[in-house]
Amino acid sequence: MRTVTTVAELRAALETARGKGRSVALVPTMGNLHSGHIALVKRARDEAGLVVASVFVNPLQFGANEDLDSYPRTLAADQEKLQSAGCDLLFAPTVEQMYPHGQQQLTRVSVPQVSEGLCGGSRPGHFTGVATVVCKLFNLVQPDVAVFGQKDFQQLAVIRRMVRDLDIPVRLIGEPTVRAANGLALSSRNGYLSAAERDLAPILYRVLTTLADQIRQGRRDHAALLAEGRASIEAAGLQVDYLELRDALSLETATAESRQLVLLVAAFIGRTRLIDNLQLDLDSLE
Ligand code: PAF
Repeated sequence: MRTVTTVAELRAALETARGKGRSVALVPTMGNLHSGHIALVKRARDEAGLVVASVFVNPLQFGANEDLDSYPRTLAADQEKLQSAGCDLLFAPTVEQMYPHGQQQLTRVSVPQVSEGLCGGSRPGHFTGVATVVCKLFNLVQPDVAVFGQKDFQQLAVIRRMVRDLDIPVRLIGEPTVRAANGLALSSRNGYLSAAERDLAPILYRVLTTLADQIRQGRRDHAALLAEGRASIEAAGLQVDYLELRDALSLETATAESRQLVLLVAAFIGRTRLIDNLQLDLDSLE
């Protein structure tokens, strides 16, 4: 695997690969890679002749009081993991390389509606930062395919909408969330948890599965159901940011008629904010 840090090197490497007729898959990341990211790279490996990963901690998507400065930068370990997973080319630019004209006056991509509420409500500007950097990465790499994790469900919805609305010629793949044996969704931010907090964290997935079972069994009093779920999470000592049931396709609040559903949760364990989600297809029950 080759690592490049400049746009010029990236473009040259891609030109060579394309000259040999290889299709390109992109896996954008912020590094600090875990098995969830590796699953994305392996999926990319199945999809294209050249697998490109990016590692870039994107300042545009962090709020003023968030963990931009403390976000783990683990490039050497990331390189080893990417190499073993079959990545061909790593793009690991500096902030100056990605935003050579600064961030203040930067053109931004903002995706209405699907960016609103949920994480977009708690993290104002976050999805504009994500959409902007992903749009830039798509323009730089021009991948045939790009692979993202379904763990960031709203992020994937935002990127899908951006690709649709801006006619970006890329096929998007959402890979299922990778979980620890106790159900905890793998996340770079799990590294912030103390041992005691790690024991508490799986409550999120337990509550999502309990709620999903109840919906499958016919419960349609969504507000009461979500209130019960919230109470269970808070009884375990976490602070719920949101727990919602949405239409999985539009991300609008689910109605009693919605068939493709997604339960989404964000909660604080101490100072660490974790997210998770669970999709349910009521049509597949019939
Ligand atoms: O999911 C992430 O790691 C980031 O939001 C992404 C898509 C790499 C954009 O910075």
